[in-house]
Amino acid sequence: MKIFLDTANLDEIRDAVQWGVIDGVTTNPSLIAREGGDFIETIHQICGMVDGPVSAEVVAQDAATMIREGRLLAKVHKNVVVKVPLTVDGLKACKALSGDGTRVNVTLCFQAAQALLAAKAGATYISPFIGRLDDMGQDGMLLIQQIVNIYANYPDLKTEVLAASIRDPLHVVQAAEAGSDVATIPFKVLKAMILHPLTDKGNAAFLKDWASVPDQDIIGQVERWMAKRKSL
Ligand code: G3P
Repeated sequence: MKIFLDTANLDEIRDAVQWGVIDGVTTNPSLIAREGGDFIETIHQICGMVDGPVSAEVVAQDAATMIREGRLLAKVHKNVVVKVPLTVDGLKACKALSGDGTRVNVTLCFQAAQALLAAKAGATYISPFIGRLDDMGQDGMLLIQQIVNIYANYPDLKTEVLAASIRDPLHVVQAAEAGSDVATIPFKVLKAMILHPLTDKGNAAFLKDWASVPDQDIIGQVERWMAKRKSL
């Protein structure tokens, strides 16, 4: 499963990219607004930091203006994926933009029927929002499973499932188990995915035991060992 970072914060992206686990980034108007910078400049900078798709969302509500915004956003960088909402106009824009060869992420998906329509309209990604469904007492993960199953029934549908509105590491694991193609993860959740008290405890125990070894310098030991072999 691919991992995208769900943020417009450049420091978070810079940090996470160095971990070697990030395949792309998703943004939305709320995430962009939270950072307070210039939208296009922010998207351009993110594209320069990540070797993968970067979702940038249109804000128009009518198809004609969405298409215009989307075509312009796609010109900002080759990594840009245009994000459109799952509305009638969003579907029209998705069809037009994907017809141009622009990758489209159809967002704000809350039922499987919407995902089927987005795929028919040529979406590259469908973004079901798991956490927001959980928040209102529904099972967000069930939606991921349904969409993965539906798409698997029709191999001519090429749309990838992008699990969004992820709230914790369990969401990520369950999305992967369900066969989601991508999970877009807030930096806070990505950091939580690394942590386990037994990892820290085990690491501390290894270091404590190693302290009793007379020569603890592994690099020096390997270099001396190699030099000795060379001289034979
Ligand atoms: O990028 C869209 C999505 O991931 C939003 O998540 O936490 O605002 O529901 P959230």
